Parts: sequence; structure tokens; C-alpha cells
Amino acid sequence: MEMRMMIFKSYEELSEAGATIIVDLLNQKPKAVFGLATGGTPVGIYEQLSKMYSEHKVSFKEATSFNLDEYVGIPQQHPESYYSYMQQHLFQHIDLPAEQAFIPNSNAEQLKEECERYDLLIQQNGQVDLQILGIGHNGHIGFNEPAQGLLSGTHIVELSDDTRRANARFFDTMDQVPKFAITMGVGTILKARQILLIVKGADKADIIERALTGPITTELPASLLQTHPHLTVLITEDAVTPATKERTRV
Ligand code: F6R
Repeated sequence: MEMRMMIFKSYEELSEAGATIIVDLLNQKPKAVFGLATGGTPVGIYEQLSKMYSEHKVSFKEATSFNLDEYVGIPQQHPESYYSYMQQHLFQHIDLPAEQAFIPNSNAEQLKEECERYDLLIQQNGQVDLQILGIGHNGHIGFNEPAQGLLSGTHIVELSDDTRRANARFFDTMDQVPKFAITMGVGTILKARQILLIVKGADKADIIERALTGPITTELPASLLQTHPHLTVLITEDAVTPATKERTRV
């Protein structure tokens, strides 16, 4: 495993470092293709990227992005759709052209065809240069939930109770939390040239230890990242157990 782990005292420092990695890549390769995540963890990175753009340190004009996932069953304009999230936290603040920013369309008439279309689009754009990932408390990446087997390409997934409970904080009632989503598969995720896994908070300490130091298993999808040739983990120190530190040799 070619893994680099960077430990930060604060979430602000982690976010700055994450944004700097992205900006450096873009300045070297303006046409870079990004895989983007939503959720709580990347918000700080997106804030930093917006700030760096406003300071003329970077342009996204020639870049392309593919989001990992989107809920099924809520309209695109719903405030909790990942489409709205991306507009709010990143896209409205930067110069990435809308036609180069892709998110699975979960309101397509034929969802299965939409999944195939999405995979094809990713392929047509070449390889994802840098994939941002968070990790769920159950070890999911994207919405690839723990299971006996995992799918490689983009597909429709039933969200686990764990995931729905974790995401309930963004909705008024549990009933409003979507039950299904479209997600990139683990095959697509692992094809990225570089993966930036971002982890914050003591509540992720146990799962990240198991993901990075335990056996590789589809029951803990993030453990598959151990097989990736270019994995960078940005993590706050409260999420690092002694075992994580010891066994990842930092
Ligand atoms: C988001 C995604 C999810 C989150 C994960 C962690 O697009 O695919 O896998 O990265 O649920 O979420 P947070 O950052 O809210 O803890």
C-alpha cells in the first residue's frame, strides 16, 4: 500500500491542506478531473477552495467534476439534494462551468440507464485524477454500504438504517430521509489516480482504524482503499487511535 497519512490538530488545518492539494493539482493540470464528495467533512475544503478562487489563486474553468452520489426520491432543487449541496458549498462560488460538473441525475426516468450513462461519461473523460472521499460510520464510501458483495459501476443502492440515521440530521423527520441513492461503485472509485480520504472527529476513530489496519472486506467498503496505489489520508488527530498511528507508520 502506498499510503500517506497527514494528521492535523484542527479541522481548519485539514481543510486548508486538502484545498492546497487540489489547487496544486489544478495549477499543474488545468484540465484535471475530480471526483467530489458531499457530507459534513468536505465542507471546509470547499470553503477554502472558494476563498482561494476569490483570491485568484486558482481557476476551475477547464476542470471537470463527477460527484459520487445523489439521493433518489427528492427533486434536484430540494435543499438537501447533493445537487443543492454542491451549488451552495462550492459551485456557486467558483468558475467551474455547469456543463463540466456532473452529478448523477436521480430524477431521470430510467435510473438504470442513468447509471450506465454516468459510467460512460466518466470513461469518456479519461481517468479521475483526484477522488475526494469521506467515510461513513459503517465504513461506507460513496453510498457503497457494507455487504457480502459490492458492485463495480454506478448503481442504485438501498441506504442502510445506519446511513439514514446519520443523515437524518439534515432532514426534519426520519421519514423524509431518502431510502435510495445512486452511487458510483467501488470499481469506479478505485480507478482514480489519487484518492484523498478525509476524516474528522473522534466518532470516526474506530471505523478508520478498522478500515486502514484491518482485513480487506466488502463488509467494510473503505478497507478496499488499502489496495489503492496512491491513497492520501487527511485526518484530525482526535480520529487517530494508537493502533492507526502504529500500523500506518506515521
Ligand atoms: C458523500 C458520501 C458519503 C460521505 C460519508 C461521510 O457524498 O458519499 O460516503 O462521505 O457518509 O459523511 P460525513 O462527512 O458527513 O461524515
